[in-house]
Amino acid sequence: MAICQCGNPVEDPKQQQLDAVFAKYSGQKGALIPVLQEAQNIYGYLPTEVLEQISKNLKIPFSKVYGVVTFYAQFHLKPRGRNIIRVCLGTACHVRGGAKIFDRIRTELTIDDGETTPDLRYTLESVACIGACGLAPVIMINDDTHGRLTPDQIADILAKYE
Ligand code: FES
Repeated sequence: MAICQCGNPVEDPKQQQLDAVFAKYSGQKGALIPVLQEAQNIYGYLPTEVLEQISKNLKIPFSKVYGVVTFYAQFHLKPRGRNIIRVCLGTACHVRGGAKIFDRIRTELTIDDGETTPDLRYTLESVACIGACGLAPVIMINDDTHGRLTPDQIADILAKYE
């Protein structure tokens, strides 16, 4: 718990939200997944201390909580960037140079697949077909689709996302 300059303990607002989630699901069966989802919405990812609290509050062994988190791709154990870049490496995009797009983004941001920039501005992920093969090669940044890309367009596109 944080301490105020006046010396009094200050409850962290995120912790208060998490406590409200625990109260909401208290005693409910099958609460693990919804509690994990809500906790991730609060923190942006699932820090180990949060998983420990979930384990304790739901009375589910930590190993089981951790196992569920690592099983589902929707859950993240590390902080994520404000902008999620998904680079399609499906067949159509691969044939039209998707790997070159991916390489250019990795070089521009100096991060690899699955990593986040230290300033938490970007997270980079490779994905299979995202259903826009006609626009290959394609990337998505958050909800925006960018298609028919060449590597030289990448820097300008990235710069638009703060
Ligand atoms: S293969 Fe890339 S959008 Fe389908």
